[in-house]
Amino acid sequence: MDFTKPTDTYKLSNGVEIPCIGFGTWQIADGKEASDAVLHALEAGYRHIDTAYAYGNERGVGDGIKRSGLPREDLFITSKLENPTRGYQETLDIFQDSLDMLGTDYLDLYLVHWPNPIHFRDSWKEKNAESWRAMEKLYKEGKIRAIGVSNFFEHHLEALDETAEVKPMVNQIHISPGETQSELVSYCRSRGMLIEAYSPLGTGKVLESPDLITLAHKYRVSVPQLCLRWSLQNGYLPLPKSKDKDRSKQNLDVFGFVISDEDILTISSLRGVSGEQTDPDTAPF
Ligand code: A2P
Repeated sequence: MDFTKPTDTYKLSNGVEIPCIGFGTWQIADGKEASDAVLHALEAGYRHIDTAYAYGNERGVGDGIKRSGLPREDLFITSKLENPTRGYQETLDIFQDSLDMLGTDYLDLYLVHWPNPIHFRDSWKEKNAESWRAMEKLYKEGKIRAIGVSNFFEHHLEALDETAEVKPMVNQIHISPGETQSELVSYCRSRGMLIEAYSPLGTGKVLESPDLITLAHKYRVSVPQLCLRWSLQNGYLPLPKSKDKDRSKQNLDVFGFVISDEDILTISSLRGVSGEQTDPDTAPF
């Protein structure tokens, strides 16, 4: 990677450019909390905001974006299709709801949030195909600049292939120190997909790892900065989250040091320090 700032971009398979760090908003409450967190993130320099219908905070996220006064074209905004909703018309409708709540008339990226919702456990393949057809229509109309998936394993992607005209450009999965999902990552990359890393700080668990604390001291950075740099050096796109203005800002300051190849491997091989990917085929939602 030769990124020097958070607005440097990865290029998706359709040519769309995506800022290399995004601000994650999972577990940020709607209303003032989400609005303030997003406003502070944008003031700190983020230009890529990741939300989801299921987070229940798109209105607050949209409010923070509006308060920033930034031109829409300077921003990269992602949202996701929630689990209880599948089907062609249903997907078109809920996508519009997301647009309305976010206060925008297009999205940069729209993802299927999970491949196998509990409501559709016997029909996920067909249901995903219907929703994907709706997303392809929105993509072709220019209402979404790129489409992709989240939490999909190889067999979910292969199922989607049976009917998809437009191949997914992104898979957003849980990637953090010790949770590298290397086979899935290789498979997605062989298909030209970008890997986005959610919970890149293991939802905060990384802060307690003695191994990571020691390594962070070595590079004179914080543990979150070490983990985000590790993510970028591996070619993932990390989506760190913080409700705190200073911590949000600190998480963008990851371009002034380089982790050695040996330490990258050490961080990758840590086990149990940051949680793991939920199995989408048995998740109770
Ligand atoms: P807070 O929101 O209070 O800053 P993840 O991105 O993996 O979901 O992790 C998010 C968690 O990590 C949140 O609990 C967040 O707490 C915490 N966090 C994020 N950035 C930092 C930081 N630079 N220093 C300490 N904690 C952080």
